[in-house]
This record gives sequence, structure tokens and C-alpha cells, in this order.
Amino acid sequence: MPNILYVHASPRAERSHSQVLADHVLSKLPGKVTSRDVSKSVPFVTDNQISHMYGFAPYGTLKGADKDAVDYQDAVVAEILAADTVVLSAPMWNLGMPASVKAWFDQVIRVGQTWKMSDEGKYVGLASQITRVVIVGTSGGIPAGAGHPWDFYTGHLTALFQFIGAKEVKIFWATGNNAEVIAPHIEVAKKQIDEYLK
Ligand SMILES: Cc1cc2nc3c(=O)[nH]c(=O)nc-3n(C[C@H](O)[C@H](O)[C@H](O)COP(=O)(O)O)c2cc1C
Repeated sequence: MPNILYVHASPRAERSHSQVLADHVLSKLPGKVTSRDVSKSVPFVTDNQISHMYGFAPYGTLKGADKDAVDYQDAVVAEILAADTVVLSAPMWNLGMPASVKAWFDQVIRVGQTWKMSDEGKYVGLASQITRVVIVGTSGGIPAGAGHPWDFYTGHLTALFQFIGAKEVKIFWATGNNAEVIAPHIEVAKKQIDEYLK
């Protein structure tokens, strides 16, 4: 059975537009879903965590925020390495991904575990078992993925997933500054998702 990692970033719970689109994607994908809510409490990378990553601070010496960050990193790295498919729902915040999603990537992207440098000096993604990443995003006015000069969402997210080795990254998008305006765009995105996943 495929393993799906569902990462969700909107703190708006049942009022979230991106969550509506993610629910639609997940309803079309068979598999076991592991859910990771990044809307709260993603630890920032700490000084001693970096020392630990490079072999200078043994796990047993870590305490408090350092230990919490390393434990979180171990958990999210294990989740991404177990996933065949990743579904990410995230609104655009201030022209890009929410800081919580970037903080999650800062923990997930770990040298020697999700990426490495080859002997020839090339970056190699080690999460290359991920065959498909489906990102669903919403925004109030800036349409991501349409080459808008203020879209720092599409390129950054796509590059980060490609960096860790994901084979295909697809983004579905709906824009509108209130529930009434965004509703028809959500329906269009749902149809695009159906077409993509059929
Ligand atoms: C902190 C914050 C920053 C935002 N920044 C942008 C932005 O840069 N561009 C934009 O078009 N919409 C922006 N929005 C609007 C959200 O992207 C939009 O309301 C989106 O549908 C929210 O997704 P959700 O319903 O899944 O939470 C922002 C909203 C918030 C709360």
C-alpha cells in the first residue's frame, strides 16, 4: 500500500481553503496517510543541533531545545524517507511559503540523510523514493505558478522537493480574497486534480 505523507500548514483548520483542496487530493489517492501539522511548534534549527549533525555533539549531551529539535528532525526525516507520495497544503504568506513550512524543510533537509554530495561534487537527493509531490496552495490575490514576479512560492517549493530527490512535483492553485471569490477557483482546481490523478 502506498505511503502518503500529508503536510499541512494553514492554522485555519476547517475554514482553510488549502485544506479543502488537500482533502480532495487525499480522497483520490489510495494509501496509508501519515499527517504532519506544521502550523504550530516546528522547532528552529539550534546551534548544538548543527554540531550534532556534523558529529560534534553526541545525542546524550543534548538537552532542552537542542534535544527537542534533534528529536523532531529524526521524526520528520523518517517520515519523508518512508513516503512514496507527499501532499502539501500551504497558503501563500507574504509572497512565499509560510515560515512554518520553511522551518519544516530546515529540519527535513539533512545532509547524509535526505541529501548528499557525490564524489563528483554534485548534489544528490536521497529521498528519491518519492515518486510524486502534490502541492495545493491558495492565496488572496497573487496567482502562483503563473509567472507572477511576486510568486516566490512555486519555484522555492518545487526546488526544495527536487533537491531531496522527489521525481515529480505538481502544484494546484486557487486564488481569491474571500470565500465567495475563491469558491469557483477551488472547483476548477478540483477538476484539474481529478484530471491529473485519474
Ligand atoms: C500572514 C498572511 C500573509 C498572506 N500573504 C499573502 C500574499 O503574500 N499574497 C496573497 O495573495 N495572499 C496572501 N495571504 C492570503 C492567503 O494566502 C489566503 O487567504 C489563503 O487562501 C489562505 O489559505 P487557507 O485558507 O488555507 O488558510 C496572506 C494571508 C496571511 C494570513
